[in-house]
Amino acid sequence: MITLDTALRQGGVEIALLVLADEHHLDGLDALLNDERVARWLGGKRTRETLLATIQKERQHFVDHGFAPWVVLDRRTGEVMGRGGLRRVELFGHPEVELFYAVAPPRMRTGLATLIATRALGLGFRELGLDSVVALTMETNQASQRLLEKVGMVRDGTFEHTGLPHVLFRVTKEEFLEADARAFRNGEKAHVHLSGPPKRR
Ligand SMILES: CC(C)(COP(=O)(O)OP(=O)(O)OC[C@H]1O[C@@H](n2cnc3c(N)ncnc32)[C@H](O)[C@@H]1OP(=O)(O)O)[C@@H](O)C(=O)NCCC(=O)NCCS
Repeated sequence: MITLDTALRQGGVEIALLVLADEHHLDGLDALLNDERVARWLGGKRTRETLLATIQKERQHFVDHGFAPWVVLDRRTGEVMGRGGLRRVELFGHPEVELFYAVAPPRMRTGLATLIATRALGLGFRELGLDSVVALTMETNQASQRLLEKVGMVRDGTFEHTGLPHVLFRVTKEEFLEADARAFRNGEKAHVHLSGPPKRR
């Protein structure tokens, strides 16, 4: 197993490992991405073949670019609790880096996606030297939009995809670093306020 980044911490406790996808994660990704509560926002359910192709694509992304999306594993049990991170995409004919994420339903609203997105933006701007990062979401995906606003991304346009209205979000390096510096001056540890008890449904 290839660990791609340091573990995610919540309240000072390591809760998740960030690893490169491999075939051992197939069942976990199947359960995550084919859960109706996740699949409905990500273009529908996927066959095992499509999931295997996704794993291969992410491994190739790592070879080509030196970074890749993460499979997020429970630190204690090794269970797949989410996925996400950064990936290179072509958008409207331009190369971009996209932030994306999905969290297993039992883990939703515990702050996990906020941790994933914040770590990914930190990686992109501090270590990979990116100029901006985009995210795409359906207009009706309130959870995703709230998360993106929370981590400092702003609406940068709307577009239609598969006949449905979508929103493009973006954050630039300057905006990210400025928000981070402001949070630091205000005595917060991170770009977004992450302390406090996890929220559960
Ligand atoms: C979107 C998603 C990743 C959010 O994950 P999460 O771990 O629940 O998010 P967090 O707990 O970090 O919460 C982030 C913010 O979003 C809010 N939020 C989370 N779920 C929400 C919901 N269903 N409705 C409204 N707001 C929601 C949280 O309250 C929090 O904001 P707050 O701090 O102001 O209260 C998760 O719902 C998911 O995986 N959905 C299916 C896949 C998907 O939509 N991916 C994005 C495709 S573009």
